[in-house]
Amino acid sequence: MTEYQIALLKGDGIGPEIVESATAVLKKTGELSGFSLNFHDYLIGGIAIDETGVPLPQETIDGCLASDSVLLGAVGGPKWDNLPAAIRPEKGLLQIRSTLGLYTNLRPARLYPALAEKCMLRADLVADGFDLVIVRELTGGIYFGERGRRTGPYGPEAYDTECYSVMEIERIARVACSTAQKRRGKVTSVDKANVLESSRLWRETVHRIAEEYEGITVEDMLVDNTAQQLIRNPSQFDVIVTSNMFGDILSDEMSQLTGSIGMLPSASLGDGTRGLYEPIHGSAPKYAGTGRCNPIATILSGAMMLRYSLNQAEAADRIEAAVDQALRDGCRTRDIADDDNTILSCDEMTEAILQRL
Ligand code: IPM
Ligand code: MG
Repeated sequence: MTEYQIALLKGDGIGPEIVESATAVLKKTGELSGFSLNFHDYLIGGIAIDETGVPLPQETIDGCLASDSVLLGAVGGPKWDNLPAAIRPEKGLLQIRSTLGLYTNLRPARLYPALAEKCMLRADLVADGFDLVIVRELTGGIYFGERGRRTGPYGPEAYDTECYSVMEIERIARVACSTAQKRRGKVTSVDKANVLESSRLWRETVHRIAEEYEGITVEDMLVDNTAQQLIRNPSQFDVIVTSNMFGDILSDEMSQLTGSIGMLPSASLGDGTRGLYEPIHGSAPKYAGTGRCNPIATILSGAMMLRYSLNQAEAADRIEAAVDQALRDGCRTRDIADDDNTILSCDEMTEAILQRL
């Protein structure tokens, strides 16, 4: 039987609960589909700072490198908010993305008909549904650019820099174009080319790369306009490709279209098959231990792991279908519930999905 080694980086806040849910679903899916998964826990984020003094211990890096893939919960919390930048929990997340060379972040979102009521938009705006994916560049841009403090003409100041190399833009553009070829063939490249030089390089590079791909169209959209188009008419989008920072912001906006940020998974990929899979939401410290969180984003991240890293597409379909069915059967955690729903805890929702595998 095929056996996979999976590194679990549970992290902080609700991280441990949602990762437990996802591993239960993955384990059972493996049993049903004929493969087995071995899970190995490693520290990241605030808990890693508490136990080792750094947000990403070397042991965690080595563990990830020795695994077929990585599943992550979330990092951060008020306890670590006032630490210096180099040892903040978030630093651990940025470092593992970068160390594993995961320059692509796929953030898909679609409207589940069962949750149409929870979508923040007027029903007529989403009558056609929507199904889009944000392809976010993940290891460059302002997140990794030069930054610092200095004294300027008006006294102390701070700066962060947005820098993209042609190489970095080319490789993310390739991912976007090949993703679009497998979908509806439309790439929207999002930038701020009316102001930023890095965006002008972004734009010309994306167009040059797109010429290598048959059957796709590329349109450019300024990020401010994209922010309004996403809520004006989300069905116009298929693949959105954008920088690290713009992708971070637009994907949170997008989450409100699906009803809850608790629904959205993500896959971070590089050139190899090993990826890092995590919900797009954070560690929600105030819900930690209350059983109130929604495990679906992490469970769907597990499905993405099966599809993109482990080449188990049918097993991934099985998980996605079970989530779909649970929603259609009215299973709801608090974040996606209406007044007339019974509210399920994180464990109960996990159980509901397990039963429908
Ligand atoms: C995300 C998060 C992270 C990011 C934070 C926690 C560093 O917001 O994955 O969207 O900005 O990339
Ligand atoms: Mg974010």
